[in-house]
Amino acid sequence: MAGFPTLPKAWFVLGPSKKFGKEPTGFKLYNKKFVIFRTEDGKLNAMRANCPHMGVNLACGGKVKGNRIVCPLHGWEFDRDGSCAKIPSTNVIPEFAHIPSFPVEERHGVAYIWNGPKADYPLPFFPDEAPEDFEGAKPYEVHQTTSWFGPVVNAFDIQHFIYSHNRIPIKDSEYDLSQKNVARVKHFYKLVGKYWFEELLRKVFGQIVELEATIWGGNVIITKSTLGKFTNYMISYCTPVEGRKARTDLVLYRKKSNNPIGWLVNKIMLPIQAKLCQKIFQDESDELFEAIIRDDRLHPENDVMVSKYLNWFKNCHA
Ligand code: FES
Ligand SMILES: [Fe+2]
Repeated sequence: MAGFPTLPKAWFVLGPSKKFGKEPTGFKLYNKKFVIFRTEDGKLNAMRANCPHMGVNLACGGKVKGNRIVCPLHGWEFDRDGSCAKIPSTNVIPEFAHIPSFPVEERHGVAYIWNGPKADYPLPFFPDEAPEDFEGAKPYEVHQTTSWFGPVVNAFDIQHFIYSHNRIPIKDSEYDLSQKNVARVKHFYKLVGKYWFEELLRKVFGQIVELEATIWGGNVIITKSTLGKFTNYMISYCTPVEGRKARTDLVLYRKKSNNPIGWLVNKIMLPIQAKLCQKIFQDESDELFEAIIRDDRLHPENDVMVSKYLNWFKNCHA
């Protein structure tokens, strides 16, 4: 759809932190290749993969030396900001000898990259919550055959909630699309659902769900779903893969507990919740199989919020 970036400036999941050590590793975001490596000081770094000299991919044979990465072909050394610090047997450093570098963050054992030279906002988290009060699961993948922003549009698509998810609104949803990088929506509904575990949840915790979604940059969806005493915390990162294929990385969280039973419950529940959310999100993605979201194909009454969201989204990346 016109006006939407194929690869936005945004935060994306690199993978579990432990995957990245001193050995440089390749990472691909749509058609952009990166090299990820940990320097001697323990810090994680991300740079464009190809050496500015003759283009060798530093993820294949590059070596970490102190806090630098060294190209395997002629030994040029690059500092973590991408500037060339040394070329063997000469002091002449050409102006082009510079590799673009990218901000990275690590949180709860997961590594993230900002696709741009400088992040427009910090790695997002649940509103009014501190990351240190939570523990997180490893990322779980979901695959889509639609534009990367399709799953986010679903959050504003009330008719699909009712029709496809069997959720009955009990009062008007609340929206805030007034800020450039962040959009907010809150839905209130009665859970009828379609999965066996939804029935179980209903029996144990009740039927009324409050779903709060905070969307950063149109690709990071922070969802807090509350059903009685049960709260599901999930952050989804929608990522373009190629053509109209996309992937969403889901990271589940639970509030930390300071007693051993709570600790054990978290250890058991985190992967279970993550697996169930992966199943729901994969079904959600399959619903969108080959979907093309266009603002000239929206229903004038039913799709008002989808249309407003798409306007916000265009403006966010303008
Ligand atoms: S290609 Fe990297 S130093 Fe020559
Ligand atoms: Fe859906």
